Amino acid sequence: MKHQLIAPTPPMGWNTWNTFGPNIDENLLRESADAFVREGLKESGYQYIVIDDVWEADRQTADGRLTWDTEKFPSGIPALADYVHSLGLKFGIYSCAGIRTCAGKPASYGYEEVDAQTFAEWGVDFLKYDYCYRPLGVAGVPLYRRMGQALRATGRPILFSACEWGHNNPATWARSAGAHMWRTTGDIVDSWDSMMGILRLQDGLEDYAGPNGWNDPDMLVVGMHGRGNVADGGMTDTEYKVHFMLWCILASPLMIGCDIRSMSAETKAILTNPGLISVNQDPLGVQGRSLSKGEVDWDGTAYQIYQKPLADGSIAVGLFNFTGDRKRQLVVPWDGIALHDRRPCQVTDLWTNQNLGVYDRYFEAPVEPHDGLMVKLTPLPLGEARQSRAKSDINDCGC
Ligand code: GLA
Repeated sequence: MKHQLIAPTPPMGWNTWNTFGPNIDENLLRESADAFVREGLKESGYQYIVIDDVWEADRQTADGRLTWDTEKFPSGIPALADYVHSLGLKFGIYSCAGIRTCAGKPASYGYEEVDAQTFAEWGVDFLKYDYCYRPLGVAGVPLYRRMGQALRATGRPILFSACEWGHNNPATWARSAGAHMWRTTGDIVDSWDSMMGILRLQDGLEDYAGPNGWNDPDMLVVGMHGRGNVADGGMTDTEYKVHFMLWCILASPLMIGCDIRSMSAETKAILTNPGLISVNQDPLGVQGRSLSKGEVDWDGTAYQIYQKPLADGSIAVGLFNFTGDRKRQLVVPWDGIALHDRRPCQVTDLWTNQNLGVYDRYFEAPVEPHDGLMVKLTPLPLGEARQSRAKSDINDCGC
C-alpha cells in the first residue's frame, strides 16, 4: 500500500482558542462542527475541528490517564470525536510538553506514551502540543521528539502540531521530531500590528516548509472584529483579506479562529475564497517568499511583494501595501521572480478569478493602504509568447 502523508498540503481547520479561550463545552464544539459543514468550510477544504486548552479535568484518573472535564463534556471526548467523524471531519485536541498546560491543566510530561495511546483510543486525528511548565533543566526539543515517537507508536495517523513558539528555531528540528507543523512565533492577537510582527519573523524560514511539514505563524484572526479571547482592537475586512492572502502565499496552516457559527458574509467570502485557497493548497508545497524584503522605496516607505511558484508552472504573486498612508503603484518585474525565460504572462486576479490580460516584462497595479492583490502569472506557451512579444515590441518602439 502506498504510504499516505498526513499533511501533504498545509493543514486547514478551526480551533477554539482565539475566540473562546477557556469557555468551551461540547455544545459549542458540536454547533461549530455543524457550522463547518453548513457554511461550506468543509467543501472549501477545511478538515480539522480542534479543541484547545481547558478541556481537561483537574486530575488524572487513578491509572494515570488524562480525562476530560465532565461538566463541559458530559457525553465525553470519544463521543464528540465520533460526532465530528460522522460529519466527515477530523478531530483535534491539545496537550502540553510540560507538567501543566498553559492554562494550568494537567499535561503530558512523563505521560507521553500513555497520553498518545489515550488520544488514539479516543479517535484523535490532530494533537496541538504546547510548551508551558517545562520542568527546569529539561530541554524542550527531546520532549517534542518523545511525543512525536509516542504518537507514531500508536499506529493511528495523528497530525502533530508543535506549539513551541519558535523558541529553539523549531523549523530546523521539528520535522525530524515527527511534527507536521510548528509554531514559529508567540501568540497572535487580533490586530494589524500583531500580524505584521509575526509576518517579519517568517523571513528566512521558507526552505524548511514543504509537504508534511509547515511553518505555522499561528491561527487566523480573520472575522474576529475585536471580539474574543485574543481581542486587541480588531481589523477591517480589507485587513483580514490581507491577513488571509499572506497566510495563503506563505503556505501556512489555515486554522480559523473566529466564531464560525456566526460569520459575516465578508468573513465567509475571505475564508472560502477558492483562488487563494488553491495557492495555499498547491501540491508543489513551496512557501512563498518576499521579493522586496525590507526594501524601501523612493520616499522611504517599505512595501512588499511575495512570490510562490505553483505546481502547474505558474507563479502566484501577492502585492501588499503595508503602509497606512496612501495608495502605491506596485511593480512586479519578471526579472525579480522565478520566471526563468521572461515570457509574457497571462495575469489572473486570484481573488475574483478575473482575467487581467497579457503582460510582458512586468505587471503593475495600484494598491490602497493596508490592502493587497494576489495574481497568478501564467507564462504563455512559446509560440504565443513570440507573437505577443513581437506585437508588444512594435508597440514599445511606437512603430
Ligand atoms: C499558548 C499557546 C496558545 C494556546 C494557549 C492555551 O499560549 O501558544 O495558542 O494554545 O497556550 O493555554
